[in-house]
Amino acid sequence: MSTNEELIGRKDLNDLEAILSVSASDQHEAIRAVKDNAEAIFTWDYEKGKRPALNKLYEKAKVSMWNGETDLPWDTIVDQEQVARDNAALNTFGDIDLSHTPFAKWDEKQWTELGMEFQNWSLSQFMHGEQGALICTAKIVETVPWIDAKYYASTQVMDEARHVEVFAKYLDTKLNGHYPLNAHLGLLLDDIITDSRWDMTYLGMQIMVEGLALAAFGFMHQITTEPLLKQLLRYVMSDEARHVAFGVLSLKEYYADLSDAEMFERQQFAFEAAVRMRDRFMQQEVWERMGLKPREVLPLLIDNPNRLLFQQMLFTKIVPNCKKLGLLDRNDKWLRRKFEELGVIGFENLTDTSDEYEAFALGAGELSASTAAMTA
Ligand SMILES: [Fe+2]
Ligand SMILES: [Fe+2]
Repeated sequence: MSTNEELIGRKDLNDLEAILSVSASDQHEAIRAVKDNAEAIFTWDYEKGKRPALNKLYEKAKVSMWNGETDLPWDTIVDQEQVARDNAALNTFGDIDLSHTPFAKWDEKQWTELGMEFQNWSLSQFMHGEQGALICTAKIVETVPWIDAKYYASTQVMDEARHVEVFAKYLDTKLNGHYPLNAHLGLLLDDIITDSRWDMTYLGMQIMVEGLALAAFGFMHQITTEPLLKQLLRYVMSDEARHVAFGVLSLKEYYADLSDAEMFERQQFAFEAAVRMRDRFMQQEVWERMGLKPREVLPLLIDNPNRLLFQQMLFTKIVPNCKKLGLLDRNDKWLRRKFEELGVIGFENLTDTSDEYEAFALGAGELSASTAAMTA
């Protein structure tokens, strides 16, 4: 099983009809139940520090906890309209001629509204993704057989609780609307949670979802003019860099002994995850809420250079980390060729995230020029 059709249900990666046919179905339910097929593993080997890099990460995490209630300036007044104007949604379309499109008659008010919906959508997806991370990390505590990894994962559970908390509070008190979980992100979270193999949780969550989140948070942190959100993202990023490092360090050890056939399953999983995450950024729910047909809007965006650049930027952490894990070139360079098809292989030589968390630490001050450049 290795064709696009078998892996992601369509032959052409850019087949819009197929992408749009996946949409949120259970958004009116109060809960979403997903079957977790994994066994909970006890270990009797309690030797702390057997894996020094994980132990170091654990010690670092214990002294890096912040409190979302008291450390962030929640009394900041957020003028969402102004923020939307500052971040000009019109730029989404770059130089494209909009005269024969539904946007031709749009006035400034509608563009501002679109900008606000982009914010509502992005922060909502961040919040849902953070809950996915909370659940996946709790699962890792149960399933990973190494004590140093159980210890570290337990600190990440606490980090993710704070992340869900601050994104939810920001949405509730500073923005004017919520979105349900995006269907593509939902499919990916389901795949990660239902898989019985403990390392797949790491690959899906720490490497793919959190790798993308680190890049997306970095991008928003750089462009937003809103000081509370800027600080909130800075705090969250300091944790996320550790989380991605946790994934890279753990899988590096585990993958060293896997056969070609086992590695191929990981390569396919990484590719499927990459496509799901890219599809999610079509933001189909936003276009619908603005009274537009995604089928009319998305062709304007799909080949737009600004848009492509943004989409590719989301992979600045994922690709070098996959390379570090040996995923790109095993099995006749299978994943390398898939990442070429997605147009993201160019990032393979950026810094991987195995020790980059030091640069993201809160005490490290503003992000250095090189770190910021990689997240931009
Ligand atoms: Fe998080
Ligand atoms: Fe995280």
